[in-house]
Amino acid sequence: MCGIVGYAGARPALQIVVDGLRRLEYRGYDSAGVAVLTETELLIAKRAGKLANLDRALAEDADGRIAAGSVGIGHTRWATHGGPTDRNAHPHLSQDGRVAVIHNGIIENFASLRTQLEAEGIEFASDTDTECVAHLLAAELRTISNTSGPAALAEAMRRVCRRLEGAFTLLAIDKEAPGAVVGARRNSPLVVGVGDGESFLASDVSAFIAHTRDALELGQDQVVLITPEGVEITDFDGKPVEAKPYHVDWDARAAEKGGHDWFMQKEIEEQPQAVADTLRGRVGTTGNILLDEVRLTDQDLRDVDKIFVVACGTAYHAGLVAKYAIEHWTRIPCEVELASEFRYRDPVLDRSTLVIAISQSGETMDTLMALRHAKEQKARVLAICNTNGSTIPRESDAVLYTHGGPEIAVASTKAFLTQLAACYLVGLHLAQVRGIKYADEVASVVEQLRSMPDAIEKVLASMDGVRELARELSSQNTLLFIGRHVGYPVALEGALKLKELAYMHAEGFAAGELKHGPIALIDQGTPVVCVVPSPAGRGVLHDKIVSNIQEVRARGARTIVIAEEDDEAVVPYADHLIRVPRTPTLLAPFVTTVPLQVLACEMATARGHDVDQPRNLAKSVTVE
Ligand code: M6R
Repeated sequence: MCGIVGYAGARPALQIVVDGLRRLEYRGYDSAGVAVLTETELLIAKRAGKLANLDRALAEDADGRIAAGSVGIGHTRWATHGGPTDRNAHPHLSQDGRVAVIHNGIIENFASLRTQLEAEGIEFASDTDTECVAHLLAAELRTISNTSGPAALAEAMRRVCRRLEGAFTLLAIDKEAPGAVVGARRNSPLVVGVGDGESFLASDVSAFIAHTRDALELGQDQVVLITPEGVEITDFDGKPVEAKPYHVDWDARAAEKGGHDWFMQKEIEEQPQAVADTLRGRVGTTGNILLDEVRLTDQDLRDVDKIFVVACGTAYHAGLVAKYAIEHWTRIPCEVELASEFRYRDPVLDRSTLVIAISQSGETMDTLMALRHAKEQKARVLAICNTNGSTIPRESDAVLYTHGGPEIAVASTKAFLTQLAACYLVGLHLAQVRGIKYADEVASVVEQLRSMPDAIEKVLASMDGVRELARELSSQNTLLFIGRHVGYPVALEGALKLKELAYMHAEGFAAGELKHGPIALIDQGTPVVCVVPSPAGRGVLHDKIVSNIQEVRARGARTIVIAEEDDEAVVPYADHLIRVPRTPTLLAPFVTTVPLQVLACEMATARGHDVDQPRNLAKSVTVE
């Protein structure tokens, strides 16, 4: 939610900042803007709409003075306070034009700050909460007399942050602080890139990965000052802080489209590799499952008597699938909750509760708040996350990273499959530690999991029919999805993808629930996607869904059936058949989800939508 970039070095900042914004545009695309410090001036350019509008404005800039500065900040916005207009686009300037500020998050006490500032004679130029930070910074800078330049800017930022409530990542530059960018973070992401004679700040590493793969994790409530000479970090009171360095294990190519029209297509194709990478190196010498960071003892895990999975959107669907495996393998009751609802219903949590927080970005505010609530109640928290150093894993007691590489498209695809793989590893680990599964049993499930990349590859190689079907269905108004057991969350995920990308009415149902109401939606020709479990697994499940397919067909539905390659029982009832390889029942979502991702991507393309940047959405949702 909002992308932020800052650069301080010897090279021209504008190009570096704009290139960084291009990689962060998935975080929000309501407007884009930059501010650059030259030797004599602070210059800004900003435009409502996508980054392309800013590109055009910069290209038309006749004198090109803005290209000269070697310090810059840039912002791509997902609007919260104030509509997506030019005047509300970031950066925002202080009234005296001395300071420029960009912001991600929400400043919750902005209304009272604005009232105070207006009473002091400040005239606001926008409707944003951010602008008050620019005015506050300028006011603090006027009062600081014992320091100057970058040090004064950092001190002003600390003073302002102590007055702010809510969630924020802030970057600021000051005409009187040449060569410096100051940043601050509370409950919102910010990472530092350490280059050779240059430094970077960004919402995530993809913004500077083309320049350096060495990064620093910033903690909560910290202020960072970057200059070409280096990086200084303090807490909000000015106490120096040692940041944890890390090396990013992927390079700039991973964050490019690689010949595809959409990042989403590329990320769908990357799924076999992403799942293989998530599973790699997970089994220790004694057959034990290895997590990444564990600040829990085996005894803590043996004491667990209840599991809650908390997550949002696609990650929530991964949790719904995982519940079947976790309960089956560990015999511990497992509930899956929407993170945005979790803390408001006062869940029963204690020290023997394990909360599993799933998040691709590691920054989703709803999930973070659920996690914090769980920790306040003394529950243990284990994070499944794709983003190294992000807030959710940092605040958890144990972490398993999915090694999916960067996911740029707003619609989650490889995150879903890698989250499934990670959840299954956690389930196996728990079962093993608690003595329910022996190493050889665990090894046999891990072997099945390791065969999933090949199975996904096979599905990907047979998607031509799905693409054709997508074009045929693209003029429909409604599409329904049904499934049972692990196929039910797959149905929900298929519907979510279609809603967010094709902007059409799509709903997923537990197939058995249809007859309790939703079957009334079926009309002549209504397309219904049916996710069929393996006939070789639990036969009763398979038989039941075959009956459900007949029920909808009898009422006029056009059935699109996803079934295993040798499942002949479904043939008479399928208007369109999508074949997937044979898989154990619990692992079926690894293959049945893929055609639904392709269907949504192709339908959105056929309807003329921007697949990677669907309307009203952003990749990383850092507000509640
Ligand atoms: O980064 P997270 O995994 O925490 O994100 C959670 C959801 O916002 C995300 O999965 C969202 O639902 C996707 N856009 C769906 O494709």
